Amino acid sequence: MKILPISKSIASKIIFLIIVISTLQARAQNTYIPIESKDNAMVLQVSPEKYLNTVYYGNKLSDKNEYASIAQTYRINRTTSEYNSAYTSSGTTNLLEPAISVTHADGNKSLDLKYVDHTVTKINDDVNLVSIRLKDSVYDFEVTLNYQTYFNENVTEQWSVIKHHEKKDVVLNKYASANLYLQAGSYWLKHYHGDWAKEMRPEEEQLTHGIKILDSKLGARADLFQPPVFMVSLNKPAGEDNGEVLYGNLEWSGNFRIDLEVDPSNNLRLIAGINNYAAEYTLKPNVEFATPKFVYTLTDKGKGEASRNLQSWARKYKIVDGNGPRLTLLNNWESTYFNFNEDKLAAILKDTKTLGVDLFLLDDGWFGNKYPRNDDHAGLGDWEVNKTKLPDGIAFLTKTAREEGVKFGIWIEPEMVNPKSELYEKHPDWVVKQPQRPEYYMRNQLVLDLSNPKVQDFVYGIADNLFTKNPELAYIKWDCNSIMYNAYSAYETHQSNFYTDYVKGLYRVLDRLRAKYPKVPMMLCSGGGGRVDYGALQYFTEYWPSDNTEPLERIFIQWEYSYFYPALASSNHVTDWGKQPIKFRTDVAMMGKLGFDVVISKLKSEDLAFCQQAVNTYKQFSEAIWHGDQYRLQSPWDNDVASVMYVDSTKGSAIMFNYLINTRYGTGTHLPIRLKGLDPNKSYTVSEINLYPGNRSSVANATFTGKFLMTVGVNPDVNAGRTSVLIGVQEKK
Ligand code: GLA
Repeated sequence: MKILPISKSIASKIIFLIIVISTLQARAQNTYIPIESKDNAMVLQVSPEKYLNTVYYGNKLSDKNEYASIAQTYRINRTTSEYNSAYTSSGTTNLLEPAISVTHADGNKSLDLKYVDHTVTKINDDVNLVSIRLKDSVYDFEVTLNYQTYFNENVTEQWSVIKHHEKKDVVLNKYASANLYLQAGSYWLKHYHGDWAKEMRPEEEQLTHGIKILDSKLGARADLFQPPVFMVSLNKPAGEDNGEVLYGNLEWSGNFRIDLEVDPSNNLRLIAGINNYAAEYTLKPNVEFATPKFVYTLTDKGKGEASRNLQSWARKYKIVDGNGPRLTLLNNWESTYFNFNEDKLAAILKDTKTLGVDLFLLDDGWFGNKYPRNDDHAGLGDWEVNKTKLPDGIAFLTKTAREEGVKFGIWIEPEMVNPKSELYEKHPDWVVKQPQRPEYYMRNQLVLDLSNPKVQDFVYGIADNLFTKNPELAYIKWDCNSIMYNAYSAYETHQSNFYTDYVKGLYRVLDRLRAKYPKVPMMLCSGGGGRVDYGALQYFTEYWPSDNTEPLERIFIQWEYSYFYPALASSNHVTDWGKQPIKFRTDVAMMGKLGFDVVISKLKSEDLAFCQQAVNTYKQFSEAIWHGDQYRLQSPWDNDVASVMYVDSTKGSAIMFNYLINTRYGTGTHLPIRLKGLDPNKSYTVSEINLYPGNRSSVANATFTGKFLMTVGVNPDVNAGRTSVLIGVQEKK
C-alpha cells in the first residue's frame, strides 16, 4: 500500500488540531501545587475552571505523582460551591463562610477569585515561600496567598496580600490570613479561655457541624479572655506522644477571629484572621494590604512533638534572640509596689548582687511629677522621672547598678494614659474615646491612638529616650493594662480601619525600636498574659504569663503556655503568692526564665542560701531549659505528681522537674516516671539537685543507660515531705 504524502496545508491543520486538543486537555486537567515540609504536604489543586482548592494536608507522599490521586478518595460536597476552596470568596456562587468578602468601588459585593500563577522562592535551606496569585475576572482585584514553610520544623506561616486597581476605595468586609481544609473522621478542638490571673484555662471538645468561633473584640490586651492559640486533633484527642494534631496561632496582637466549620461532608474548614467585627477595612487603590501571618504545625506524633516543632521554630525564627541567653532578675513590684525611694532601690540593687541574679528590674511608679504615679490613678503618660522618689534620676540607678556589678532594667506602659496626667491635658485627641459619650476605664486608664503617626512617634520616643539618656539601660518591661472601650479615633477618616491600624501602628513603633535596638531584652507584659501571641513576640525576648505567681497555679498555666511557646520566653518570678516553701516556688519558676520578686533582706538565711544555690543550678542547666527540647512526662491535670523535663540539643544534659499536685494523704510517686528524649545508648548519671540546705536526698546517685531511663524510668520520690524534686541527668563520658 502506498502512503500518500501529506500536503503542507493538511499537516499544518493537524498540528493546529494537536495544539487545540492538548490545550483543551490541559484546561480539563487539574494541576497540583504541593507545599511540603520534612514530614508533611499540603496539596493545592487548580481546577479546570481555575479555582484553587485544598485536596490534602497530612503526611507527605514519597511519589509526588500520587498527589493527583488524592482528591478522588475524599468526599467533598459541592452543593454550595467549593467547600475546600483555599481562600473562599463571597458574593457569587459561593455561599459558605468566606475568607474574604469585599465591597467594590461601585458598591458591588461579588468576588470570584481564580488562579493566575504562582512562584516558589527558596529563601534558604530550611525556608521556602510559595506565593499564589488569584484574581477576579470582572474587577481589578487580586489576592496573593503566601505559604512560608520551615522544612525541618514542619511549620508553615500563611498570609494574604490584597490589592486592587479600582477607581475608588474598596472596602474589605472580611480579610482572613488563611483558609485551611482538613479531612478526618472527627475533630477535637482544644482552646483556651481566661481572665486576669486565670490565663490559659483549656477546654477540649469534639467539634460538631456548624461554625465554632474563637475570637476577641477587646482591641488592646486582646487575649485577656481568649488567646489566638488552639489545637485541633484529628479522629481522637491526640496524646502527648501519639495522634494527629494541628496547632495554630494568629500572629496578631489585636482582635482576631478563627472560624472552625465541620462541613456537610464532615471535613473541617478553618479560617483564621483579623476579626472583621466593626473593622471593615477601606483600602485605597494600588495599596497592598498584608494580613497578619497565621502560623501552624501538623504532626502525627502527638501534642509533645507539635509543641517542640513550634518551640524550636519560635527560637530560631520568631522571638528576639531565641538562640541567645536570658537575664535572671530581681523585680521590685510585689516588694514595694509604688512606695520606694533612692535608698530603698539602692538596697534592692545590693540584694540583686547578693542573690546572684543578673539584673534589677524597677517596676511601675518611677514617673510623673504634676500627677505623681503613687498609685494606679495618676501619672500614666508622663514619662518624666518623679523628682521626689528619684531626685538624681535614672542615672542614679544605672550608676548604683554598675557599682554593684549588676544590670538595670525599667517598666513602661507606653500605650496608655491616665486621665489624671499632663499628657491627657495636652493631647486629648490622642486618646481612644467616644467624643460624645462618658469615658469608661479599666484600671483608671485609657488607650492612646496608635493609628495616629504622632502618637506612634511619642510612644517610640518613650523607649528611645530612656535608652538614649541611659545607655546602660539593659532591659525593658513593656506593659499594657487596659482593653479598649469606646473605640474611636480622632485621627482616622474611616473609623472601621481603627482596630486594625492600631495594631499596625504598634508594630510600626516596635519595628523602629528593634531596628535601633535589635537585641536588648524586652518583656511583653499585659497585666499578665493579655497579649501573648507571635505577632507581639517577634519584638520581645520574653513574656509575662500571668500576674498569678501562686506556684501550683503556675504549674498549670506554664504547662499550657508551653504547648505553644518556648520555655526561655516564659518569665517566671518567685513571689510570696502561695503557701508553698521557697524551694517549691523557686523550682516552679526555674521551668522558664527565672526571676524573683521577694524582699531578699527579709529571707531566712537558709532560704537565701537556697535561692543563691538555685540561681547557680539554674545557670548550670540553662542550656537545656532555654534551648533544649521540652518533654511533658506527667500532666498536672491527670496525676498526683506533675513532671516535665528539658534535654539539651546534644542529649548530654537534662533536668527533670517534679511536683506534688494532690496533697491528699499518701499521694506521691509510687511508680517510676519514664524519661524522654535521651539517647538510649548513652550512660547518664542521675541525681537529685537543688536540695534545700541541710536536706538529704532519698534518691540515690546512680548511672543508667538512656534506654533504662526511658523504659523503666526514675522515681523522684515525691511525697508530702518532698513536694518538689528536681533531678539532674548528666551524660557520663
Ligand atoms: C501589671 C503587671 C505587673 C506590674 C503592674 C504594675 O499588672 O502585670 O507585673 O508590672 O502592672 O502596675
